[in-house]
Amino acid sequence: MLASGRGSTLQAILDAAADPESFGGQVVAAGTDVKGCAAMERAEARGVPTFAVELRDFADRAVWNEVLADTIASFQPDLVVLAGFMRILAPDVVRQFRIINTHPALLPAFPGAHAVRDALAAGAERTGVTVHWVDEGVDTGPVIAQLEVPVVEDDDEASLTARIQAAEKPFYVKAIHQLCQEIT
Ligand code: GAR
Repeated sequence: MLASGRGSTLQAILDAAADPESFGGQVVAAGTDVKGCAAMERAEARGVPTFAVELRDFADRAVWNEVLADTIASFQPDLVVLAGFMRILAPDVVRQFRIINTHPALLPAFPGAHAVRDALAAGAERTGVTVHWVDEGVDTGPVIAQLEVPVVEDDDEASLTARIQAAEKPFYVKAIHQLCQEIT
C-alpha cells in the first residue's frame, strides 16, 4: 500500500487484512512520500514493514520514481493499493505494477486532489467513490467499481468528505478482496 496522509483508508484495509485467509491477501509493506505521516504509524503499529521515499531527497522526479519503484519491487507485490497517496507516478512505474486507487468522486467527474470541494463548487447533487486501475493520467484509468453518495442540503467539504469516506472504506476493502481472489 502507498499512502501520504491520515491513513484512515489504509487502516480499514489493515483491519480487513488482519484475517489474511478470509481477506485473500496479505499487506506486505506500506510506503509513503511523506516521512512520519499517520498512515505509516498505523502500519507500523500492525507490524507491517514501512518505507518512505520523499521527493525532496532526490535530484528530480525521475530519480524519485526510480527509487520508489525499486523499493516497491523489493517487496514483490501482486497488487499496489493506493490509499490516499497524493503524488502522480511516472508512466514507467505505472506499467511496472498492477496499481489501483480509490478516488472520492464519480470519475471522470472531479479528478485531482480536491474532488469533494470541486463537486460542491459545481453544485453536484450526487458524487461518490471510484475504484480504478491507475494509468499514466491523473485519475483516468479504467474503472473497476463505482458507488454513488448523495450531496445533501447544507453540505460543506467536511460533512461531504465524511459521508464519502464512510462509504468508501468498505467499498474499497470489498474491491481489493475481490481482486485478491482473482489474482490468486
Ligand atoms: C480518501 O478519501 C481517498 O479517496 C482520497 O484521499 C483520502 C485519503 O484519506 N484520495 C484522493 O483524493 C486521490 N486523488 P486517508 O488519508 O484518511 O486514508
